[in-house]
Amino acid sequence: MKRIGAGTLTREAIGTRVRLQAWVQRCRNLGGLLFVDLRDRTGVAQVVVHPETRADLAALLEPVRAEWVLEVEGTVVAREPAAVNPRMATGEVEVEADRIEVLSKSDPLPFQLDDRAEALEETRLRYRYLDLRRPELQRNLELRHRITHEARQYFHEQGFLEIETPILTKSTPEGARDYLVPSRVHRGEFYALPQSPQLFKQLLMVAGFERYLQIARCFRDEDLRADRQPEFTQIDLELSFPTEEEIFGLIEGLFARVLPLVGVAPALPFPRLTYAEAMARYGSDRPDLRFELPITDLSGALGSSGFRGFREAVEQGGVVRGIAVPGAAGASRKQADGWAELARRSGAAGVLTLRRLRGELAFTVKNSLTAGEMEAAAAALGLEEGGLAVLVAGPERSTAEALGALRLELARTFGLVPEGRWAFLWVHDFPLLERDPEAGRWVAMHHPFTSPDPRDLARLESDPGQVRARAYDVVLNGTELGGGSIRIHDREVQERVFRLLGIEAAEARERFGFLLDALRLGAPPHGGLALGLDRMVMLMAGATSLRDVIAFPKTASATCLMTEAPSAVDARQLAELGVALSRRPEAG
Ligand code: AMO
Repeated sequence: MKRIGAGTLTREAIGTRVRLQAWVQRCRNLGGLLFVDLRDRTGVAQVVVHPETRADLAALLEPVRAEWVLEVEGTVVAREPAAVNPRMATGEVEVEADRIEVLSKSDPLPFQLDDRAEALEETRLRYRYLDLRRPELQRNLELRHRITHEARQYFHEQGFLEIETPILTKSTPEGARDYLVPSRVHRGEFYALPQSPQLFKQLLMVAGFERYLQIARCFRDEDLRADRQPEFTQIDLELSFPTEEEIFGLIEGLFARVLPLVGVAPALPFPRLTYAEAMARYGSDRPDLRFELPITDLSGALGSSGFRGFREAVEQGGVVRGIAVPGAAGASRKQADGWAELARRSGAAGVLTLRRLRGELAFTVKNSLTAGEMEAAAAALGLEEGGLAVLVAGPERSTAEALGALRLELARTFGLVPEGRWAFLWVHDFPLLERDPEAGRWVAMHHPFTSPDPRDLARLESDPGQVRARAYDVVLNGTELGGGSIRIHDREVQERVFRLLGIEAAEARERFGFLLDALRLGAPPHGGLALGLDRMVMLMAGATSLRDVIAFPKTASATCLMTEAPSAVDARQLAELGVALSRRPEAG
């Protein structure tokens, strides 16, 4: 007799003999009958034992507790009509046991599997294999498998070759710190774990593979958030001779292929915004387009008004901008204080409000704006009866970012985020460089191998801040799912970009000499993109943390509570590696 999945038993199976091998969800003794709910990957089935005829089985079940592993053989029978459970996929049938064997016992559990809210996340991560028994996490990981499988199949059909690249490698700058691995053979030298396969995939294009794919593990030592893990997975691709259009089409095709796994058909093609448009209209380079709430520029309407804050902002080259929120005129003082605090975190001075209530317009600072000025601003904002607008004035960047943060907060507060929407978009024409305020120098906005826009190449040195990049991101519901670019394939341009980034010739040679050599030996034009697989699965599973879609995730402080990694190592191991610790970690 073959083993059968507990969750697959339906009316069709009535009368057949089956063998289940599964975990005990719970045992009950009801009116003289013993019931055992058995759970495996496919679901749950009810097993029934009649003690009057099978005293031996009843005795065997006596010590059995939740999460023991049993083998049960028996006959599938229809349940009594009153016992049918419509909420259970197998609720019309049960298995009348005639043989039971205990395959494995379990100590009492450190937490109840069906009590998600009760157990501390720390406990659940320590016993991750138990937490993973929960149907929700089983479903998430199955979805992850299906998405990965579908993606592989799709790219295979599109002529991509899956090629693995090294994990022990040299630093690839993606903007985070490297994880380093000391070399035993070469004392004092280190490998870096890849932040992405970026340089290898470019070299595979130089090698003539034309279309590369990898479901690639990446490692970044950076500050963690709900949508960041220190090791994560990319669907990583690269093409020779591509156009941006071709790459956009390929990725849209991929989403059209995987979203049906969760019953969604995305609208194609995805809308596109330039970086400048996204920042001006939504205050973010990854705007959530499930709702509109656009930012309106009011510098014209209010820049020469009686309110000094507005006047000064515009005189100093800044802007006045705002967002109108329908139905928000009743917002409290406390709410407004919260918004001001949020805006300050983006570097704005604060938030002012304009309300239209019972036909009257009211501005935070009474008598500082004329009726005409308020009307003009309200008209530009589209501020209607019962609505409230938040206004911010100051330098363009911090004002845009403050309003971008407020836009999300206001949409959440006033229930303006529709459920079930899949708002994809492309953001393109990113700036090539941004100013690192701490170091006071230019850094690559994407990475140093991104091609400048040929339209801006002439001003690379004279006006670097204005140079656009051939870079693009794909965004879903306010989350950056992926990013990529057309690369530099010309050695001279690559050297110019390195110089702008303050990487001098000698350093460039030392860090990226192999790339610079390759760019001299027949490098085709190439470009690509990487999607964050974990983020994709998270959004498709409706989860709110990457931890819910990764089998063995790390905590916010980059530890694994189950294995207790990272951990101290033997003095002997350190000595072999030639590594000395500057300070012993504190005991305990
Ligand atoms: P980028 O750094 O934009 O590009 O990364 C691509 C995508 O990877 C995901 N991602 C992460 N997911 C979870 N945890 C993290 N710490 C994390 N960091 C990034 C995001 C992101 O959009 N080599 C380039 C790609 C290219 O140019 O082709 C790169 O890695 O979803």
